[in-house]
Amino acid sequence: MTDTIRIAIAGLQGRMGQACQDVIAQHDDLVLVGGWGRGQDPILDADVILDMSTPAAVADLPPLLTTRQGPAWVIAVTGLDQATEDAIAKTAQAIPVVKSGNFSLGINLLLGLAAQAQRALPPFKIDILDVHHIHKQDAPSGTALMLQRAVGGDAKITSRREGEVIGDHQVTFTGPSEVITLGHKATDRKVFAEGACQAARWVTSQPAGLYDMQDVLDLK
Ligand SMILES: NC(=O)c1ccc[n+]([C@@H]2O[C@H](COP(=O)([O-])OP(=O)(O)OC[C@H]3O[C@@H](n4cnc5c(N)ncnc54)[C@H](OP(=O)(O)O)[C@@H]3O)[C@@H](O)[C@H]2O)c1
Repeated sequence: MTDTIRIAIAGLQGRMGQACQDVIAQHDDLVLVGGWGRGQDPILDADVILDMSTPAAVADLPPLLTTRQGPAWVIAVTGLDQATEDAIAKTAQAIPVVKSGNFSLGINLLLGLAAQAQRALPPFKIDILDVHHIHKQDAPSGTALMLQRAVGGDAKITSRREGEVIGDHQVTFTGPSEVITLGHKATDRKVFAEGACQAARWVTSQPAGLYDMQDVLDLK
């Protein structure tokens, strides 16, 4: 029998925090030890923190995580500034950290497919479309930025915020006489929660370092 992994959720009552609660409850090897929201104290007595909070909340955690051994940190929050990215990289020298703008298997496969298409079609114009719900704080999405990095910095990103769309992304390659579109549509945010839980299982056996979902899925 595998050891139980004790998880704490930052942003417990948010959309992603609730999806993670549902997913953890469905897996016998995962236990929710608690969570916190705005104005509450972080819970550090856990094996892994699943971070589903906000950029400001993420920026507050590094001093707490580098002063003791563990927990590991799985970060789903997007829209982080460079100072926070730097603080995360420094924290990852002390503990294992997985950070990804998208924890779904589908998007992580799409990153490879889009990179492959870009290599095969160098002169084509590349456009990225990112559509999300109206509550989303950051634009472009973390996923659109990951796709842009995968195909090259010249790709133009268009972001739309509509209704309750969970997350749609398209990469379109336009050539002189053909158009290729690669796309992904998330239909339930549990897909991200499942991926984050998969990362939580994986990260507990890793040494200190900064990892992403491609590492977790062994796609590199
Ligand atoms: N990587 C991925 O696969 C993925 C997928 C989906 C979403 N995301 C990202 O995940 C983040 C959360 O998304 P969401 O849709 O769940 O947003 P959300 O519904 O707004 O949830 C964020 C939660 O964090 C809480 N919070 C605020 N300050 C906090 C603090 N200091 N400590 C702990 N919690 C705090 C908020 O509480 P209040 O409401 O009281 O402010 C809210 O409950 C976003 O950055 C989003 O882009 C990532």
